[in-house]
Amino acid sequence: MAANLAAPQPVTPSSPDAAPRRTVAVVLAAGLGTRMKSTTPKVLHPLCGRPMIQYVLDAAIAATGSPPLVVVSPATEAVRAEIADRADVTVQAEPRGTGDALATALAALEDGVEEVLVVSGDVPLVRGDLLTSLLEARAMDHAALALVSVDAVDPTGLGRVLRNDGGTVERIVEDKDATDDERGVSEINAGLYAIDATWVRRRIGDLRPSAATGELYLTDLVAFARDDGRLVAALEVEDDGRLTGINDRAQLARAEWDMRVEVNDRWMRAGVTMVDPSTVYLDHGVELAQDVVLEPNVILRGATRVGERTRIGAGSQLVDAEIGPDSAVWASIVERSTVEDHVTIGPFSHLRPGTHVGRHSEIGNYAELKNTRLGEHVRQHHMSYLGDAELGDDTNVGAGTITANYDGVRKHRTTIGEGVFLGVDTMLRAPVTLGDGAKTGAGAVVTKDVPAGKLAVGVPARLRDPHPRRSPEDDGG
Ligand code: UD1
Ligand code: CA
Repeated sequence: MAANLAAPQPVTPSSPDAAPRRTVAVVLAAGLGTRMKSTTPKVLHPLCGRPMIQYVLDAAIAATGSPPLVVVSPATEAVRAEIADRADVTVQAEPRGTGDALATALAALEDGVEEVLVVSGDVPLVRGDLLTSLLEARAMDHAALALVSVDAVDPTGLGRVLRNDGGTVERIVEDKDATDDERGVSEINAGLYAIDATWVRRRIGDLRPSAATGELYLTDLVAFARDDGRLVAALEVEDDGRLTGINDRAQLARAEWDMRVEVNDRWMRAGVTMVDPSTVYLDHGVELAQDVVLEPNVILRGATRVGERTRIGAGSQLVDAEIGPDSAVWASIVERSTVEDHVTIGPFSHLRPGTHVGRHSEIGNYAELKNTRLGEHVRQHHMSYLGDAELGDDTNVGAGTITANYDGVRKHRTTIGEGVFLGVDTMLRAPVTLGDGAKTGAGAVVTKDVPAGKLAVGVPARLRDPHPRRSPEDDGG
């Protein structure tokens, strides 16, 4: 499967005493990305929940085995925080073009680097094995520069690869600088290069601004290599839509689509059933166990994990959620919460951050929980809110039970023991504690602690000797 899907390699940014690197990947991410029309730097726009530059780093690290050097600009400084744990960063003072970005990188690289692998930050579907082949292509031909070229279905806007009559690559012309004839060429430059570092250090200063845009083009190095009598190797690849780069949000959406198909295929091959994979949205970091069933219109985000045989019902959204095996989530939202095994959630439940649901519990219609820990076999079937609470095993939460956890200034906790029975419409004014086996009557407003085994009824609730009148099911709903 794609290098994109591999776990990120644990590389740390290079330290001065690290072993000398022969080949260093340089990732270009200083461009303004104006075509995205966004205040977020282009390379931080996410694909399957992960900033696109992270996939580029995966591929670069897979090919070189060392931390890449990422070129950012003052306007894309936010990129630094995203990648600082796995790459080095250098700043291009002004985005004056890809040639200037490479010059900035070369100035930041240590002596002894023999080869640079240049990767645009906006080709997130690039694979590590393609970059490895690119390095091999340059080595085989002793070329000054090797590039990846694509016979593009739609070459609009991209640099064209121009060859002489013998088929040798002679130069690249940018779309904006091209003649009509040149624009008719469908072989495009993918923006991926392996370059002889010694040679390019000598030649990079000779780049001159384009008449059309005023930018320094890295692509002009191709003609320099030929002028110097050096070879330029082209690794030609099929146009599978992976390499034409992301410049606007329509291209971003298409890349996301491609990646999503790959991610879903991978999980289905790993034993996950998807009733309609075209409507299943899984972030890069999601993990699913065997025999998980995902119904239509399911969105699983962040580091969500789902255990064996668990069914995620139509319309559910899970965000950084951990759901145990043999459970079911029906049309519900679970955020940053943990659900153990044999649990049923929903329909229409909302588990907000910090919720923990113990084994064999049942959370029902219109139940909301926040920062709350439920023991095992807890039943919370209908229309209720539990916030900042702890409930012991075998507790029954009656319909309409509410923890009044907020006094307008501070949040307070509600502590409920094991085997507690909360009658319908119980209001629990926190902070309050109910001991094991305590009970509340229908409509009780509990403002004081209820000791173990005691019954509290009324508004405000007072203790009364528990004498069973009806079965618990009648009161608790
Ligand atoms: C570039 C190539 C083009 C190729 C295309 C492939 C040049 C001049 N053109 O065009 O031949 O077909 O990629 O996708 O190289 N960047 C900087 N600093 C800058 C300008 C850009 O770091 O001053 C970075 C951008 O953040 C981006 C990458 O370089 O990641 C490419 O820049 P972009 O403006 O997208 O170039 P294209 O017009 O797509
Ligand atoms: Ca681009």
